[in-house]
Amino acid sequence: LTTAAVALTLSVSAGAVSAACDDGEILIKFSHVTNTDKHPKGIAATLLAERVNAEMNGKACMEVFPNSTLYNDDQVLEAMLQGDVQMAAPSLSKFEQFTKQFRIFDLPFMFKNINAVDEFQSSETGQAMKASMERRGLSGLQFWHNGMKQMSANKPLNLPSDADGLKFRVQASDVIKAQMEAIGVSPQPMAFSEVYGALQTGVVDGQENTWSNIYGQKFFEVQDGITETNHGVLDYMVVTSTDWWNSLPDDVRTQLATILEEVTTTRNAAVGEVDAEARQAILDAGSNIIELDAATRQIWVDAMMPVWAEFTGDVGQENIDAAQAINA
Ligand code: LMR
Repeated sequence: LTTAAVALTLSVSAGAVSAACDDGEILIKFSHVTNTDKHPKGIAATLLAERVNAEMNGKACMEVFPNSTLYNDDQVLEAMLQGDVQMAAPSLSKFEQFTKQFRIFDLPFMFKNINAVDEFQSSETGQAMKASMERRGLSGLQFWHNGMKQMSANKPLNLPSDADGLKFRVQASDVIKAQMEAIGVSPQPMAFSEVYGALQTGVVDGQENTWSNIYGQKFFEVQDGITETNHGVLDYMVVTSTDWWNSLPDDVRTQLATILEEVTTTRNAAVGEVDAEARQAILDAGSNIIELDAATRQIWVDAMMPVWAEFTGDVGQENIDAAQAINA
């Protein structure tokens, strides 16, 4: 092993990928908020760093800071504009404050599964969304998948009315707030890193998230049931500072973009597996997963769908139509 390889091995085992950057290498800090194991984003970010550090040695090096150790999602985009971090992959819900078009991803029951989300993102409309924040200094590079969201609470939720009057942690998204209000839930925006403690101490009663996040953050330990609603999507956009990206030497930018694209293709294709593994791990831990029959699920659909009307102007009827055509 070379010294660099030893340093890499040591730091991987410590939980963060750090390449012990050499003088003259362009340092790329990648900050994110999830765990690294059995998690689509954690696995993808680690793979990206491993490949950059192996294939771009001498030109660039990447350090990954997982688990909100560097920034939470409220801080990271500002830090990126300041040049303190170069890449991140916040959930799409975190972008709606920049571009209201992103609200389509938060609308409940808009996409029937992650394949439909993938197809929409690959369309001209979806691809154009990556560039929609450039006037704010941010460029989207790739979409990374996580999965469909489930509902959990400190009591079993069979029907939406079971959630009436409860407090749920939500991401800071107007659409998600409206979705929760539609079922009588009081939405409490909160950083991801604070959710476990808030559920444990009863500051909130429930939350919505994907299997990998419910597993990775151990939310199942402090909830009395998870309802398999698949009611919405949680996906990511890998984002960077437009100025920083444009300042890279052409060969560096091209190679980095190619590696990122390959990692995206590989890991997005494997996302179903990671999702299923996390779900199974939750079951194995003895948690109560409530599956919905078609008629009961329809009651959730009927309760949440009115939210669409409120946001059609923001996301565009033609985009809703395009998403629905993909589902068909
Ligand atoms: C959340 O805040 O619940 C998620 O966006 C966290 C994540 O990055 O998956």
